[in-house]
Amino acid sequence: MSAPLVEAQGVVKRYGPTAALADGRLTVLPGESHALVGRNGAGKSTLVTILTGLQAPDEGTVRFDGEPAPPLADRDAWRSKVACVYQKPTVVPELTVAENLFINRQPLRRGFISWRGLRTRAAELLDTWDVRVDPEARTADLKVEDRQMVEIARALSFGARFIVLDEPTAQLDKREIERLFGRMRALQDSGVTFLFISHHLQEVYEVCQTVTVLRDARWITTAPVADMPRAALIEAMAGETIAEQAIQLREVEDTAPVLLDVRDLTSDAYENVDLTVRRGEVVGLAGISGSGKIELAESFTGLHTPTNGTARLDGRPLPFGDVQASLRAGVGFVPRDRHAQGLVFGMTIGDNATLSVLDRLGRYGFVGTDRKRGFATELIDRLDIHTEGPDQPVSDLSGGNAQKVVMARALASDPRLLVLINPTAGVDVKSKESLLSRVDTAREDGTAVLVVSDELDDLRRCDRVLVLFHGRVVAEHPAGWRDHELIASIEGVDHHG
Ligand SMILES: Nc1ncnc2c1ncn2[C@@H]1O[C@H](COP(=O)(O)OP(=O)(O)OP(=O)(O)O)[C@@H](O)[C@H]1O
Ligand SMILES: [Mg+2]
Repeated sequence: MSAPLVEAQGVVKRYGPTAALADGRLTVLPGESHALVGRNGAGKSTLVTILTGLQAPDEGTVRFDGEPAPPLADRDAWRSKVACVYQKPTVVPELTVAENLFINRQPLRRGFISWRGLRTRAAELLDTWDVRVDPEARTADLKVEDRQMVEIARALSFGARFIVLDEPTAQLDKREIERLFGRMRALQDSGVTFLFISHHLQEVYEVCQTVTVLRDARWITTAPVADMPRAALIEAMAGETIAEQAIQLREVEDTAPVLLDVRDLTSDAYENVDLTVRRGEVVGLAGISGSGKIELAESFTGLHTPTNGTARLDGRPLPFGDVQASLRAGVGFVPRDRHAQGLVFGMTIGDNATLSVLDRLGRYGFVGTDRKRGFATELIDRLDIHTEGPDQPVSDLSGGNAQKVVMARALASDPRLLVLINPTAGVDVKSKESLLSRVDTAREDGTAVLVVSDELDDLRRCDRVLVLFHGRVVAEHPAGWRDHELIASIEGVDHHG
Protein backbone atom coordinates (compact mmCIF):
# COMPACT_ATOMS: atom_id res chain seq x y z
CA MET A 1 0.00 0.00 0.00
CA SER A 2 1.20 3.51 -0.77
CA ALA A 3 2.09 5.91 2.02
CA PRO A 4 -0.71 8.28 3.01
CA LEU A 5 -0.82 11.62 1.26
CA VAL A 6 -2.41 13.16 4.34
CA GLU A 7 -2.49 11.82 7.82
CA ALA A 8 -4.07 13.46 10.87
CA GLN A 9 -3.85 11.83 14.27
CA GLY A 10 -5.38 12.57 17.66
CA VAL A 11 -6.52 16.02 16.62
CA VAL A 12 -8.12 18.09 19.39
CA LYS A 13 -9.61 21.56 18.89
CA ARG A 14 -11.48 23.40 21.61
CA TYR A 15 -13.47 26.63 21.52
CA GLY A 16 -13.98 27.59 25.13
CA PRO A 17 -16.21 24.89 26.57
CA THR A 18 -16.89 23.29 23.17
CA ALA A 19 -14.64 20.52 21.92
CA ALA A 20 -15.15 20.89 18.18
CA LEU A 21 -12.75 17.96 17.79
CA ALA A 22 -11.88 15.57 20.60
CA ASP A 23 -10.23 12.85 18.54
CA GLY A 24 -9.98 13.74 14.87
CA ARG A 25 -8.23 11.25 12.62
CA LEU A 26 -7.90 11.00 8.89
CA THR A 27 -5.76 9.00 6.50
CA VAL A 28 -6.07 9.83 2.82
CA LEU A 29 -4.23 7.77 0.23
CA PRO A 30 -2.85 9.38 -2.92
CA GLY A 31 -5.21 9.32 -5.86
CA GLU A 32 -8.40 8.47 -3.99
CA SER A 33 -11.53 10.50 -3.45
CA HIS A 34 -12.19 10.28 0.24
CA ALA A 35 -15.53 11.21 1.79
CA LEU A 36 -15.78 12.84 5.21
CA VAL A 37 -19.27 12.51 6.68
CA GLY A 38 -21.00 13.17 9.96
CA ARG A 39 -23.96 14.96 11.45
CA ASN A 40 -24.17 18.74 11.77
CA GLY A 41 -21.59 19.88 14.27
CA ALA A 42 -19.62 16.63 14.15
CA GLY A 43 -16.38 18.51 13.47
CA LYS A 44 -15.88 18.12 9.71
CA SER A 45 -15.25 21.75 8.84
CA THR A 46 -13.09 22.16 11.92
CA LEU A 47 -10.90 19.29 10.73
CA VAL A 48 -10.68 20.99 7.35
CA THR A 49 -9.41 24.25 8.89
CA ILE A 50 -6.65 22.23 10.52
CA LEU A 51 -5.82 20.25 7.38
CA THR A 52 -5.54 23.47 5.40
CA GLY A 53 -3.43 25.27 7.98
CA LEU A 54 -6.01 27.93 8.86
CA GLN A 55 -5.56 27.11 12.51
CA ALA A 56 -3.36 24.88 14.61
CA PRO A 57 -4.82 21.97 16.56
CA ASP A 58 -4.62 22.13 20.36
CA GLU A 59 -3.27 18.60 20.23
CA GLY A 60 -2.42 16.06 17.58
CA THR A 61 -0.43 16.00 14.37
CA VAL A 62 -0.93 16.49 10.65
CA ARG A 63 1.46 15.04 8.08
CA PHE A 64 1.66 15.37 4.32
CA ASP A 65 3.56 12.61 2.50
CA GLY A 66 4.99 11.52 5.84
CA GLU A 67 6.41 15.01 6.55
CA PRO A 68 5.12 17.19 9.40
CA ALA A 69 2.81 19.98 8.25
CA PRO A 70 4.48 23.36 7.64
CA PRO A 71 4.30 26.12 10.27
CA LEU A 72 1.04 28.09 10.06
CA ALA A 73 2.80 31.26 8.97
CA ASP A 74 4.30 29.62 5.89
CA ARG A 75 1.28 30.15 3.64
CA ASP A 76 3.20 29.31 0.47
CA ALA A 77 4.14 25.91 1.82
CA TRP A 78 0.52 25.18 2.74
CA ARG A 79 -0.71 26.38 -0.63
CA SER A 80 1.61 23.97 -2.36
CA LYS A 81 0.05 21.05 -0.48
CA VAL A 82 -3.64 21.59 -0.04
CA ALA A 83 -6.56 23.84 -0.88
CA CYS A 84 -10.19 23.97 0.10
CA VAL A 85 -13.08 25.03 -2.07
CA TYR A 86 -15.89 26.29 0.14
CA GLN A 87 -19.49 27.08 -0.56
CA LYS A 88 -18.62 30.70 -0.13
CA PRO A 89 -16.28 31.94 -2.86
CA THR A 90 -12.72 32.82 -1.99
CA VAL A 91 -12.17 34.48 -5.35
CA VAL A 92 -12.72 38.22 -5.81
CA PRO A 93 -15.98 38.71 -7.71
CA GLU A 94 -15.02 42.02 -9.34
CA LEU A 95 -11.87 40.61 -10.92
CA THR A 96 -11.63 38.59 -14.09
CA VAL A 97 -10.91 34.90 -13.97
CA ALA A 98 -7.32 35.50 -15.13
CA GLU A 99 -6.77 38.13 -12.45
CA ASN A 100 -8.10 35.82 -9.78
CA LEU A 101 -5.87 33.01 -10.91
CA PHE A 102 -2.71 35.11 -10.67
CA ILE A 103 -3.66 37.63 -8.02
CA ASN A 104 -0.47 38.90 -6.32
CA ARG A 105 1.75 36.98 -8.70
CA GLN A 106 0.98 38.66 -12.00
CA PRO A 107 3.55 38.18 -14.73
CA LEU A 108 5.63 41.34 -14.94
CA ARG A 109 7.13 42.96 -18.00
CA ARG A 110 9.85 45.50 -17.14
CA GLY A 111 8.26 45.87 -13.73
CA PHE A 112 4.72 46.39 -15.03
CA ILE A 113 1.90 43.89 -15.05
CA SER A 114 1.76 42.24 -18.42
CA TRP A 115 -1.90 41.86 -19.19
CA ARG A 116 -1.24 39.83 -22.26
CA GLY A 117 1.04 37.52 -20.29
CA LEU A 118 -1.64 37.22 -17.63
CA ARG A 119 -4.29 36.18 -20.12
CA THR A 120 -2.00 33.72 -21.84
CA ARG A 121 -0.92 32.06 -18.63
CA ALA A 122 -4.48 31.87 -17.37
CA ALA A 123 -5.65 30.34 -20.63
CA GLU A 124 -2.82 27.78 -20.46
CA LEU A 125 -3.62 26.88 -16.88
CA LEU A 126 -7.32 26.45 -17.54
CA ASP A 127 -6.52 24.44 -20.62
CA THR A 128 -4.14 22.12 -18.79
CA TRP A 129 -6.91 21.13 -16.40
CA ASP A 130 -9.56 21.21 -19.08
CA VAL A 131 -11.55 23.96 -17.40
CA ARG A 132 -13.68 25.61 -20.07
CA VAL A 133 -14.03 29.11 -18.69
CA ASP A 134 -13.19 32.38 -20.43
CA PRO A 135 -10.15 33.87 -18.63
CA GLU A 136 -11.51 37.35 -19.30
CA ALA A 137 -14.95 36.71 -17.81
CA ARG A 138 -15.81 38.65 -14.68
CA THR A 139 -15.72 36.13 -11.85
CA ALA A 140 -19.01 37.44 -10.44
CA ASP A 141 -20.72 36.40 -13.67
CA LEU A 142 -19.60 32.78 -13.44
CA LYS A 143 -21.94 29.97 -12.53
CA VAL A 144 -21.20 28.42 -9.14
CA GLU A 145 -19.77 25.29 -10.75
CA ASP A 146 -17.40 27.29 -12.96
CA ARG A 147 -16.32 29.41 -10.03
CA GLN A 148 -15.50 26.22 -8.14
CA MET A 149 -13.44 24.94 -11.08
CA VAL A 150 -11.52 28.23 -11.21
CA GLU A 151 -10.73 27.86 -7.52
CA ILE A 152 -9.58 24.29 -8.10
CA ALA A 153 -7.40 25.36 -11.04
CA ARG A 154 -5.88 28.08 -8.90
CA ALA A 155 -5.06 25.56 -6.17
CA LEU A 156 -3.49 23.21 -8.70
CA SER A 157 -1.36 26.02 -10.08
CA PHE A 158 0.21 26.44 -6.64
CA GLY A 159 1.25 22.82 -6.85
CA ALA A 160 -1.39 21.39 -4.52
CA ARG A 161 -2.62 17.96 -5.51
CA PHE A 162 -4.93 17.54 -2.53
CA ILE A 163 -8.23 19.39 -2.79
CA VAL A 164 -10.87 19.61 -0.08
CA LEU A 165 -14.44 20.19 -1.22
CA ASP A 166 -16.62 21.23 1.75
CA GLU A 167 -20.24 20.69 0.66
CA PRO A 168 -19.59 21.69 -2.95
CA THR A 169 -22.93 20.41 -4.20
CA ALA A 170 -25.18 22.23 -1.74
CA GLN A 171 -25.93 25.01 -4.22
CA LEU A 172 -25.86 23.02 -7.43
CA ASP A 173 -28.71 21.42 -9.32
CA LYS A 174 -28.66 17.86 -10.59
CA ARG A 175 -27.02 18.61 -13.92
CA GLU A 176 -24.36 20.82 -12.39
CA ILE A 177 -23.58 18.14 -9.83
CA GLU A 178 -23.10 15.57 -12.59
CA ARG A 179 -20.74 17.94 -14.38
CA LEU A 180 -18.77 18.61 -11.20
CA PHE A 181 -18.45 14.86 -10.64
CA GLY A 182 -17.29 14.36 -14.22
CA ARG A 183 -14.58 16.94 -13.67
CA MET A 184 -13.61 15.43 -10.33
CA ARG A 185 -13.17 12.03 -11.95
CA ALA A 186 -11.06 13.48 -14.74
CA LEU A 187 -8.85 15.30 -12.22
CA GLN A 188 -8.59 12.15 -10.16
CA ASP A 189 -7.33 10.37 -13.27
CA SER A 190 -4.64 13.04 -13.59
CA GLY A 191 -3.49 12.34 -10.06
CA VAL A 192 -5.51 14.77 -7.92
CA THR A 193 -6.71 13.54 -4.52
CA PHE A 194 -9.99 14.78 -3.06
CA LEU A 195 -11.52 15.05 0.39
CA PHE A 196 -15.24 15.38 -0.21
CA ILE A 197 -17.78 16.56 2.36
CA SER A 198 -21.49 16.20 1.70
CA HIS A 199 -24.76 15.47 3.43
CA HIS A 200 -26.05 13.79 0.29
CA LEU A 201 -24.94 10.27 0.99
CA GLN A 202 -25.73 9.00 -2.49
CA GLU A 203 -22.99 11.35 -3.75
CA VAL A 204 -20.49 9.63 -1.49
CA TYR A 205 -21.23 6.38 -3.27
CA GLU A 206 -21.06 8.06 -6.63
CA VAL A 207 -17.63 9.72 -6.44
CA CYS A 208 -15.71 8.34 -3.47
CA GLN A 209 -13.80 5.15 -2.82
CA THR A 210 -13.25 5.55 0.91
CA VAL A 211 -15.28 7.13 3.68
CA THR A 212 -14.41 8.45 7.13
CA VAL A 213 -17.16 9.06 9.68
CA LEU A 214 -16.94 11.60 12.50
CA ARG A 215 -19.43 11.66 15.33
CA ASP A 216 -19.53 14.01 18.33
CA ALA A 217 -16.05 15.33 17.55
CA ARG A 218 -14.50 11.86 17.26
CA TRP A 219 -13.28 9.58 14.55
CA ILE A 220 -15.61 6.58 14.31
CA THR A 221 -14.53 4.59 11.30
CA THR A 222 -12.77 4.61 7.95
CA ALA A 223 -13.77 2.05 5.33
CA PRO A 224 -14.08 1.47 1.61
CA VAL A 225 -17.48 2.83 0.56
CA ALA A 226 -18.23 -0.56 -0.96
CA ASP A 227 -18.18 -2.01 2.56
CA MET A 228 -20.48 0.64 3.99
CA PRO A 229 -24.05 0.29 2.82
CA ARG A 230 -26.27 3.30 3.44
CA ALA A 231 -27.83 1.93 6.62
CA ALA A 232 -24.41 1.19 8.12
CA LEU A 233 -23.18 4.63 7.19
CA ILE A 234 -26.15 6.36 8.81
CA GLU A 235 -25.76 4.23 11.88
CA ALA A 236 -22.10 5.19 12.18
CA MET A 237 -23.04 8.86 11.85
CA ALA A 238 -25.92 8.79 14.29
CA GLY A 239 -24.64 6.21 16.77
CA GLU A 240 -27.94 4.35 16.62
CA THR A 241 -30.01 2.47 14.14
CA ILE A 242 -32.40 4.69 12.33
CA ALA A 243 -35.29 3.40 10.37
CA GLU A 244 -35.75 5.75 7.47
CA GLN A 245 -39.36 6.71 7.83
CA ALA A 246 -41.86 6.15 5.14
CA ILE A 247 -43.56 9.43 4.40
CA GLN A 248 -47.21 9.69 5.21
CA LEU A 249 -49.00 11.18 2.26
CA ARG A 250 -52.03 13.11 3.20
CA GLU A 251 -54.48 15.04 1.19
CA VAL A 252 -55.65 18.52 1.81
CA GLU A 253 -59.40 18.86 1.51
CA ASP A 254 -60.47 20.59 -1.67
CA THR A 255 -62.69 22.64 0.56
CA ALA A 256 -59.82 24.05 2.61
CA PRO A 257 -59.80 27.80 2.02
CA VAL A 258 -57.20 29.25 -0.31
CA LEU A 259 -54.65 31.26 1.66
CA LEU A 260 -52.27 32.32 -1.07
CA ASP A 261 -53.87 33.30 -4.34
CA VAL A 262 -51.54 34.36 -7.12
CA ARG A 263 -52.78 35.62 -10.46
CA ASP A 264 -50.86 36.25 -13.62
CA LEU A 265 -47.65 37.06 -11.80
CA THR A 266 -44.85 38.19 -14.10
CA SER A 267 -41.30 39.43 -13.58
CA ASP A 268 -38.05 39.27 -15.50
CA ALA A 269 -37.61 35.72 -14.17
CA TYR A 270 -41.05 34.18 -14.75
CA GLU A 271 -44.23 34.79 -16.70
CA ASN A 272 -47.97 34.62 -16.11
CA VAL A 273 -47.86 32.41 -13.06
CA ASP A 274 -51.16 31.40 -11.48
CA LEU A 275 -50.83 29.63 -8.17
CA THR A 276 -52.93 28.84 -5.14
CA VAL A 277 -51.96 27.34 -1.81
CA ARG A 278 -54.67 26.24 0.59
CA ARG A 279 -54.66 26.28 4.35
CA GLY A 280 -52.50 23.40 5.51
CA GLU A 281 -51.26 22.68 2.03
CA VAL A 282 -47.61 22.24 1.09
CA VAL A 283 -46.79 23.10 -2.50
CA GLY A 284 -43.38 22.36 -3.96
CA LEU A 285 -41.66 24.41 -6.65
CA ALA A 286 -39.12 22.53 -8.72
CA GLY A 287 -37.02 23.41 -11.74
CA ILE A 288 -33.44 23.63 -12.97
CA SER A 289 -31.45 26.73 -12.06
CA GLY A 290 -32.71 29.62 -14.13
CA SER A 291 -36.25 28.21 -14.20
CA GLY A 292 -37.52 31.12 -12.11
CA LYS A 293 -38.59 29.00 -9.13
CA ILE A 294 -36.44 30.89 -6.64
CA GLU A 295 -37.47 34.32 -7.88
CA LEU A 296 -41.10 33.26 -7.80
CA ALA A 297 -40.82 32.20 -4.17
CA GLU A 298 -38.80 35.31 -3.32
CA SER A 299 -41.61 37.47 -4.69
CA PHE A 300 -43.72 36.58 -1.66
CA THR A 301 -40.95 37.44 0.78
CA GLY A 302 -40.13 40.86 -0.64
CA LEU A 303 -36.77 39.79 -2.06
CA HIS A 304 -37.80 39.81 -5.71
CA THR A 305 -40.27 42.21 -7.25
CA PRO A 306 -42.86 41.21 -9.82
CA THR A 307 -43.63 43.62 -12.62
CA ASN A 308 -47.19 42.52 -13.12
CA GLY A 309 -49.96 40.50 -11.54
CA THR A 310 -51.25 40.11 -7.99
CA ALA A 311 -50.83 37.95 -4.94
CA ARG A 312 -53.34 37.86 -2.09
CA LEU A 313 -52.70 36.31 1.27
CA ASP A 314 -55.82 35.50 3.21
CA GLY A 315 -57.78 37.88 1.02
CA ARG A 316 -55.43 40.85 1.42
CA PRO A 317 -53.05 42.04 -1.27
CA LEU A 318 -49.53 40.92 -0.44
CA PRO A 319 -47.08 43.83 -0.61
CA PHE A 320 -44.16 43.40 -2.99
CA GLY A 321 -40.54 44.44 -2.73
CA ASP A 322 -40.41 45.01 1.02
CA VAL A 323 -39.19 42.27 3.34
CA GLN A 324 -40.48 43.92 6.51
CA ALA A 325 -43.91 44.43 4.98
CA SER A 326 -44.03 40.77 3.93
CA LEU A 327 -43.16 39.70 7.47
CA ARG A 328 -45.91 41.92 8.84
CA ALA A 329 -48.35 40.46 6.34
CA GLY A 330 -47.69 37.02 7.81
CA VAL A 331 -44.94 35.56 5.66
CA GLY A 332 -42.15 33.57 7.30
CA PHE A 333 -39.24 32.47 5.17
CA VAL A 334 -36.00 30.58 4.88
CA PRO A 335 -33.96 32.48 2.29
CA ARG A 336 -31.73 30.98 -0.35
CA ASP A 337 -28.51 32.32 1.08
CA ARG A 338 -28.29 32.24 4.84
CA HIS A 339 -25.05 34.20 4.77
CA ALA A 340 -26.34 37.11 2.79
CA GLN A 341 -30.01 37.15 3.71
CA GLY A 342 -30.54 34.92 6.66
CA LEU A 343 -28.59 35.53 9.80
CA VAL A 344 -27.09 38.39 11.68
CA PHE A 345 -23.75 36.81 12.39
CA GLY A 346 -22.71 39.23 15.10
CA MET A 347 -25.78 38.36 17.18
CA THR A 348 -26.52 35.42 19.42
CA ILE A 349 -28.55 32.41 18.42
CA GLY A 350 -31.34 33.53 20.72
CA ASP A 351 -31.51 37.02 19.21
CA ASN A 352 -31.48 35.64 15.69
CA ALA A 353 -34.16 33.10 16.36
CA THR A 354 -36.48 35.64 17.95
CA LEU A 355 -35.73 38.54 15.61
CA SER A 356 -39.05 38.19 13.84
CA VAL A 357 -41.17 38.02 17.00
CA LEU A 358 -39.76 40.75 19.20
CA ASP A 359 -43.03 42.63 18.75
CA ARG A 360 -45.01 39.74 20.03
CA LEU A 361 -42.75 38.85 22.94
CA GLY A 362 -42.79 42.19 24.64
CA ARG A 363 -44.80 45.33 24.97
CA TYR A 364 -43.49 48.82 24.28
CA GLY A 365 -40.65 47.35 22.24
CA PHE A 366 -39.04 46.04 25.39
CA VAL A 367 -38.45 42.33 25.59
CA GLY A 368 -37.68 40.71 28.88
CA THR A 369 -34.42 38.83 28.55
CA ASP A 370 -35.78 35.83 30.39
CA ARG A 371 -38.79 35.63 28.15
CA LYS A 372 -36.63 35.75 25.06
CA ARG A 373 -34.17 33.22 26.40
CA GLY A 374 -36.98 30.85 27.28
CA PHE A 375 -38.49 31.18 23.85
CA ALA A 376 -35.13 30.69 22.13
CA THR A 377 -34.27 27.70 24.30
CA GLU A 378 -37.49 26.06 23.28
CA LEU A 379 -36.77 26.65 19.59
CA ILE A 380 -33.24 25.30 19.97
CA ASP A 381 -34.67 22.21 21.56
CA ARG A 382 -37.45 21.66 19.05
CA LEU A 383 -35.10 22.01 16.08
CA ASP A 384 -32.31 19.97 17.61
CA ILE A 385 -29.75 22.76 17.26
CA HIS A 386 -26.28 21.65 18.37
CA THR A 387 -25.14 24.57 20.57
CA GLU A 388 -24.00 25.61 24.01
CA GLY A 389 -27.19 27.65 24.40
CA PRO A 390 -29.08 30.71 23.17
CA ASP A 391 -26.31 33.12 24.15
CA GLN A 392 -23.76 31.63 21.78
CA PRO A 393 -23.09 33.79 18.70
CA VAL A 394 -24.45 32.36 15.49
CA SER A 395 -21.02 32.68 13.87
CA ASP A 396 -19.86 29.79 16.12
CA LEU A 397 -22.36 27.35 14.69
CA SER A 398 -21.61 24.68 12.13
CA GLY A 399 -23.21 25.17 8.72
CA GLY A 400 -26.18 22.90 9.23
CA ASN A 401 -26.93 24.23 12.67
CA ALA A 402 -26.94 27.80 11.36
CA GLN A 403 -29.51 26.68 8.79
CA LYS A 404 -31.69 25.37 11.61
CA VAL A 405 -31.57 28.78 13.32
CA VAL A 406 -32.89 30.33 10.11
CA MET A 407 -35.71 27.82 10.15
CA ALA A 408 -36.40 28.52 13.82
CA ARG A 409 -36.74 32.18 13.01
CA ALA A 410 -39.11 31.53 10.13
CA LEU A 411 -41.35 29.46 12.39
CA ALA A 412 -41.15 31.79 15.37
CA SER A 413 -43.62 34.27 13.97
CA ASP A 414 -46.35 31.66 13.42
CA PRO A 415 -46.59 32.68 9.78
CA ARG A 416 -49.66 32.21 7.63
CA LEU A 417 -47.44 31.58 4.64
CA LEU A 418 -44.13 29.82 5.06
CA VAL A 419 -41.73 30.14 2.12
CA LEU A 420 -38.81 27.73 2.30
CA ILE A 421 -35.96 27.97 -0.18
CA ASN A 422 -33.67 24.93 -0.07
CA PRO A 423 -34.58 24.51 3.61
CA THR A 424 -32.45 21.44 4.20
CA ALA A 425 -29.28 22.68 2.47
CA GLY A 426 -26.34 21.48 4.54
CA VAL A 427 -28.56 19.72 7.07
CA ASP A 428 -27.64 16.15 8.00
CA VAL A 429 -29.92 13.17 7.31
CA LYS A 430 -31.24 12.86 10.80
CA SER A 431 -31.77 16.58 11.40
CA LYS A 432 -33.61 16.76 8.09
CA GLU A 433 -36.32 14.64 9.60
CA SER A 434 -36.80 16.90 12.60
CA LEU A 435 -36.69 19.97 10.43
CA LEU A 436 -39.25 18.67 7.97
CA SER A 437 -41.49 17.40 10.71
CA ARG A 438 -41.62 21.01 11.96
CA VAL A 439 -43.06 21.85 8.56
CA ASP A 440 -45.68 19.17 9.11
CA THR A 441 -46.62 20.74 12.43
CA ALA A 442 -46.94 24.16 10.80
CA ARG A 443 -49.22 22.79 8.10
CA GLU A 444 -51.36 21.03 10.69
CA ASP A 445 -51.80 24.42 12.31
CA GLY A 446 -53.14 25.69 9.00
CA THR A 447 -50.09 27.41 7.57
CA ALA A 448 -49.75 27.43 3.79
CA VAL A 449 -46.28 26.29 2.78
CA LEU A 450 -44.24 26.81 -0.38
CA VAL A 451 -41.09 24.74 -0.67
CA VAL A 452 -38.44 25.40 -3.30
CA SER A 453 -35.91 22.64 -3.42
CA ASP A 454 -33.56 20.63 -5.59
CA GLU A 455 -33.94 17.68 -3.29
CA LEU A 456 -36.50 15.06 -4.05
CA ASP A 457 -36.78 14.19 -0.37
CA ASP A 458 -37.98 17.70 0.42
CA LEU A 459 -40.46 17.64 -2.45
CA ARG A 460 -41.82 14.21 -1.67
CA ARG A 461 -43.68 15.58 1.33
CA CYS A 462 -45.52 18.19 -0.71
CA ASP A 463 -49.19 17.77 -1.57
CA ARG A 464 -48.25 18.75 -5.09
CA VAL A 465 -45.16 19.88 -6.93
CA LEU A 466 -45.23 22.52 -9.65
CA VAL A 467 -42.43 22.41 -12.17
CA LEU A 468 -41.11 25.61 -13.70
CA PHE A 469 -39.19 25.71 -16.94
CA HIS A 470 -37.92 28.97 -18.43
CA GLY A 471 -40.18 30.94 -16.15
CA ARG A 472 -43.40 29.10 -16.85
CA VAL A 473 -45.26 26.50 -14.86
CA VAL A 474 -45.15 23.50 -17.18
CA ALA A 475 -46.34 20.63 -15.01
CA GLU A 476 -48.06 19.75 -11.77
CA HIS A 477 -47.42 16.48 -9.97
CA PRO A 478 -49.70 15.40 -7.15
CA ALA A 479 -48.01 13.60 -4.22
CA GLY A 480 -46.97 10.06 -5.02
CA TRP A 481 -44.96 10.84 -8.20
CA ARG A 482 -42.08 8.62 -9.15
CA ASP A 483 -38.58 10.05 -9.08
CA HIS A 484 -37.94 9.58 -12.78
CA GLU A 485 -41.20 11.30 -13.70
CA LEU A 486 -40.40 14.37 -11.69
CA ILE A 487 -36.79 14.46 -12.86
CA ALA A 488 -37.86 14.19 -16.50
CA SER A 489 -40.26 17.02 -15.96
CA ILE A 490 -37.65 19.20 -14.21
CA GLU A 491 -35.08 18.54 -16.92
CA GLY A 492 -37.61 19.46 -19.56
CA VAL A 493 -37.51 16.14 -21.40
CA ASP A 494 -41.23 15.45 -21.14
CA HIS A 495 -42.62 18.74 -22.33
CA HIS A 496 -40.54 19.63 -25.36
CA GLY A 497 -42.17 19.99 -28.73
N1 LIG B 1 -15.36 29.52 16.10
C1 LIG B 1 -16.08 28.67 16.86
N2 LIG B 1 -16.40 29.00 18.13
C2 LIG B 1 -17.12 28.15 18.92
N3 LIG B 1 -17.56 26.94 18.51
C3 LIG B 1 -17.27 26.57 17.27
C4 LIG B 1 -16.52 27.40 16.37
N4 LIG B 1 -16.41 26.74 15.18
C5 LIG B 1 -17.05 25.57 15.32
N5 LIG B 1 -17.56 25.45 16.58
C6 LIG B 1 -18.31 24.31 17.10
O1 LIG B 1 -17.61 23.15 16.81
C7 LIG B 1 -18.49 22.08 16.47
C8 LIG B 1 -18.09 21.47 15.15
O2 LIG B 1 -18.34 22.40 14.11
P1 LIG B 1 -18.03 22.10 12.58
O3 LIG B 1 -18.29 23.35 11.85
O4 LIG B 1 -16.69 21.49 12.47
O5 LIG B 1 -19.15 21.00 12.23
P2 LIG B 1 -19.46 20.28 10.84
O6 LIG B 1 -19.24 18.83 11.04
O7 LIG B 1 -18.74 20.95 9.74
O8 LIG B 1 -21.05 20.51 10.72
P3 LIG B 1 -21.99 20.87 9.45
O9 LIG B 1 -22.32 19.59 8.79
O10 LIG B 1 -23.22 21.47 10.07
O11 LIG B 1 -21.25 21.84 8.58
C9 LIG B 1 -19.88 22.69 16.47
O12 LIG B 1 -20.52 22.36 17.69
C10 LIG B 1 -19.65 24.17 16.39
O13 LIG B 1 -20.66 24.89 17.03
MG1 LIG C 1 -19.35 22.15 8.06
